[in-house]
Amino acid sequence: MPDRYDVLIIGNGIAGSSAALFLAEAGKSILLLTKGEDLENTNTAKAQGGIVFRGEGDNPSFLIKDIMEASAFTSYTASARLISRLGPPLVQKLLIDRLQIPFDRRNGKWDLFREGNHSFRRILHVKDYTGKVIQEYLNKAVLHEPLIEVKKNSLALDFIVSSRDTPHPESRYLPLECLGAYVWEEEAQEVIPILASATILATGGLSEIYRYSSGGPWNTGDGFAIARRAGARLSNMEYVQFHPTLLYTPQYSSSFLISESVRGEGAELISANGEPFMYRYHPRGSLAPRDVVARAIFQEMKIHESNCVYLDFRQKMEPHKIKDTFPTIYEELLQRGIDITQEPAPVAPGAHFACGGVLTDTRGRTTIKRLYAAGEVACSGLHGANRLASTSLLEGLTFGYRAARDIVKHSEELPNFAVLPFREKWGEPPPENILRSLKEIIRINMWENVGLIRERRGLSQSLQILTAMKKEIAHLKEEYGISPALSELENMAETALLVTEEAFKNPLSRGTHFRLDAFDP
Ligand code: SIN
Repeated sequence: MPDRYDVLIIGNGIAGSSAALFLAEAGKSILLLTKGEDLENTNTAKAQGGIVFRGEGDNPSFLIKDIMEASAFTSYTASARLISRLGPPLVQKLLIDRLQIPFDRRNGKWDLFREGNHSFRRILHVKDYTGKVIQEYLNKAVLHEPLIEVKKNSLALDFIVSSRDTPHPESRYLPLECLGAYVWEEEAQEVIPILASATILATGGLSEIYRYSSGGPWNTGDGFAIARRAGARLSNMEYVQFHPTLLYTPQYSSSFLISESVRGEGAELISANGEPFMYRYHPRGSLAPRDVVARAIFQEMKIHESNCVYLDFRQKMEPHKIKDTFPTIYEELLQRGIDITQEPAPVAPGAHFACGGVLTDTRGRTTIKRLYAAGEVACSGLHGANRLASTSLLEGLTFGYRAARDIVKHSEELPNFAVLPFREKWGEPPPENILRSLKEIIRINMWENVGLIRERRGLSQSLQILTAMKKEIAHLKEEYGISPALSELENMAETALLVTEEAFKNPLSRGTHFRLDAFDP
């Protein structure tokens, strides 16, 4: 008999964990899954800058305007309105009042950061490790909640979908419904079907499909791929945001991000010859929208034939302020031999955030009945073509709440379906060197052909490479059977193909999607 819960949540970042806490408050039984062996391995935990709150003299209409402007006026206004109005009260309710997260204060008031394209200082933070602290407090709360069962090392392989995975004779007349998921459980060493009246997908991003990225290795695009295989609609997949300032190392191998908030505190971008250059590109200078800054850096690297530009912290900050406000960044760079109180840090852009994803409405509902999506994997249209800094945690919290609320109000009991066993043959993974080299092909291809600057020839080359890759993976599945490692590789290839296809079809340069061969209406 498959396991049954009221709600299955896949992913334990801020979207998944806050949804779980809201649902438990309403008396629902929840299974919260993570594929990692560590609850700290989330994109939430990696967020340095912070979470949008309210600045002095601020109100939701200013935030809506900043979101719209950063997205080059492509954000879906209803979603921008929703997070601007509902997000900050939810921060107060869950993160401040209930979890008591110790956000920084100064002289009895919130010490708020400012980031690119924000009209106010409105970003609540804990030094430069905000996400880590938020994740710790969320973990403590979900582990303490009797209605939430947490399972680690559990990879969702595919959704259980009505008509495809149920032998029920009537089920083929039903609308497409998600009845749960097939989950590989490391501990049991088997694939277990898990049934739930509602499922929330909150698996985070896809940055691992790029050679250089700020994300953790777990960002293999699983959620996008399994939603697509189940028949859900995805949208805006071409809009992959590149963060302007990843630490550059000669191997360019680091995924260490230097938060945009350092620029909010006065750090300046300078080119290889020491010249501050951002005002030549945008009136907001280093605090321009992220896509503008990333492309300007790319351009400066080309002009100066250099592999990086530099971030000079010393412009407006004394050494003690640098060390006190940005201890993680200071320590990390010092360990690599760069003392940011004395010298600028080398930086270059890298893939950071999927602005598109599984299409949802403002209640988190996808196009499949009983399936919700929240956080980075979802696309409510909030970010349009480019996301405003520090809205990702706010988005996860708000849409996690919205999905939970909708489930509490509307979810129906699951009928008594019989479920077919997982349809793929299970086996040992192919040799590590094969998997590694296929991953590298995807990552290099995406970086070179579907990166910051795109054009038709490169995109069509990427389509060919990824289509061939899918065939190769199908052969591997026949030979070895499916395994967690092969499943992740397949998800990477499918997600990379989704991004490429959308980028190929869209001839307009907007926000993060920049076509050299753009058609300009
Ligand atoms: C940053 O701190 O620069 C990253 C936060 C974000 O992506 O919003």
